[in-house]
Amino acid sequence: MQAKSDVTNFVPYNVPLCDGREVLVREITEDDKVGLLAAFNRLSADARYARFMAAMQQLPEAMLEQATHPSAEREFALVALATENKVSSIVGGARYAAAPGSDTCEFAVTVADDWHRLGLASRLLGTLIDIARSRGYRCMEGYVLSSNTAMRRLAKRFGFADLACPDDATLRVVTLAL
Ligand SMILES: CC(C)(COP(=O)(O)OP(=O)(O)OC[C@H]1O[C@@H](n2cnc3c(N)ncnc32)[C@H](O)[C@@H]1OP(=O)(O)O)[C@@H](O)C(=O)NCCC(=O)NCCS
Repeated sequence: MQAKSDVTNFVPYNVPLCDGREVLVREITEDDKVGLLAAFNRLSADARYARFMAAMQQLPEAMLEQATHPSAEREFALVALATENKVSSIVGGARYAAAPGSDTCEFAVTVADDWHRLGLASRLLGTLIDIARSRGYRCMEGYVLSSNTAMRRLAKRFGFADLACPDDATLRVVTLAL
């Protein structure tokens, strides 16, 4: 497994979306706490449940802190920023995390409700897969609600296998060899 310092730094890029809008994709930083909290607060209850698999009224400070301070060795996180009327806001994010020494990483991706079906999650997940592969991971997996058709279709388009989750019929595990 390569340490982050051994690999090329991530270069931010612009993504043109199919409705003509554009977002900037870059690595998350510790300065994104306020923006990330605002993005969480804008998510619908359904989207929060789909992402966290729990009815989350608030994003706990510990999760916010962890999200904005990914481990350089085992985690990687992207945000997508939209600028409207000179104000930037986070409209999407994707991350992976791995247990120490593991060559499997677990991903999650979220896009703001009013930015769905524009191709943003596809770009974020594609980038995440490329980064994980370049950093030596051999497998990417994610836990997805069985009812989450959007995420399951997205994973399928990237070639993930969609498997039953042992002991929990409400979940699927999607896995991709990198
Ligand atoms: C799942 C989720 C991330 C998908 O995000 P998204 O940005 O809408 O995904 P995309 O736009 O890349 O793809 C979704 C659909 O839009 C379609 N699409 C993408 N680009 C398009 C374009 N240019 N024109 C028309 N349709 C397009 C895709 O083909 C896809 O269609 P499908 O439903 O037939 O497969 C989003 O619904 C979400 O954030 N949900 C809540 C959180 C969640 O469930 N996270 C997953 C847990 S890991």
